[in-house]
Amino acid sequence: MNMRTLPLSREKIRAEVQALGPWFHNLDLAGVKTAPDHFLGDYPAVKWRRFEQSLPADLTGKSVLDIGCNAGFYSIEMKRRGAARVLGIDSDPDYLAQARFAAEVCEANIELRQMSVYQVGEIGETFDVVLFMGVLYHLRHPLLALDLIHAHVARDLLVFQSMQRGSADVMETAENYDFWQTDPFDRPDYPRLHFVEKRYAGDPTNWWIPNRAAAEAMLRSAGFTIVDHPEDEVYLCRRAGAPSPDPLPNTVPEAL
Ligand SMILES: C[S@@+](CC[C@H](N)C(=O)[O-])C[C@H]1O[C@@H](n2cnc3c(N)ncnc32)[C@H](O)[C@@H]1O
Repeated sequence: MNMRTLPLSREKIRAEVQALGPWFHNLDLAGVKTAPDHFLGDYPAVKWRRFEQSLPADLTGKSVLDIGCNAGFYSIEMKRRGAARVLGIDSDPDYLAQARFAAEVCEANIELRQMSVYQVGEIGETFDVVLFMGVLYHLRHPLLALDLIHAHVARDLLVFQSMQRGSADVMETAENYDFWQTDPFDRPDYPRLHFVEKRYAGDPTNWWIPNRAAAEAMLRSAGFTIVDHPEDEVYLCRRAGAPSPDPLPNTVPEAL
C-alpha cells in the first residue's frame, strides 16, 4: 500500500533514483532522469517515438501485460493511454523495485509481479495487449517463451521487439527441402538464430540473437500473424489460431 500522501521532493526522487540504480530505462521522474548516459541515447523514449503511432491511441477498458517490464517505461505509457489494467512482470527484483518507484512518482496504477516469462501460465488470464519487448534474445528457450505467450496470455495484440543481427533481408522459404539440398542454409537471409555461448555486448544474459527472417518466422511459427512492422525491430501481431503443428504437448520441459 502506498502510504505517501505528499508529492516527493526533487531531492528525494534524486536520492531514491540513485539508490535504486543502475537503471536501463531512462525515465523522466518529475524532472529527474534515471539513465541520462544510456548508450542508446534517451532509451527507450527514442524507440517508442518510432512506433507509438502504430498502437491504439485509446486503450480505455483494455488489459495489458508487459513481459520483461524493466523499470516500467512501456507499462506507464500503456496506462497513459487509458488501459484499465496493466500488469508488468520481470524476473529481476531490482528492476521491479525501479518500476514500483517510477509508477509511484508518475501516479500510474500498475500491478507488478516478479515472474519469468516461462511462468505466464500461472497468471491464469488473457490480455488484450501483450508487450514482449527486448526479452527474446535474453532467453535460453526463446521459442518456448513465444509458445507459452500464445497458449496462455495473448488474446489479441502482441507487440514484439527483438535485437536483430545478421541480414535484414528475408528469403521466402520453401514448404520443404530435400535432405541433400543444403544451399538454403548458406544464405544470410535464411531464418537464423545466432547463439552466444560467451558474451555479446558484455552481457552474459544474451543467448540467441535472430536475424530479421528468424524473428518473423518464429512469430509465425508460434501462432502470431504479423500485421505491422513500424520499426526495424518492432512487430505488431495478432494472435492467430493454434501454431501448426501444435508444439506444446511434447516440447515444454517439465523443469520449466
Ligand atoms: C533489454 S530489457 C527490455 C526492457 C523493456 N521491455 C524494454 O523493451 O525496454 C530486458 C528485460 O527482460 C527481463 N527479463 C530477462 N529474462 C526474463 C525472463 N525470463 N522473464 C521475464 N523477464 C525477463 C530483464 O530483467 C529486463 O528487465
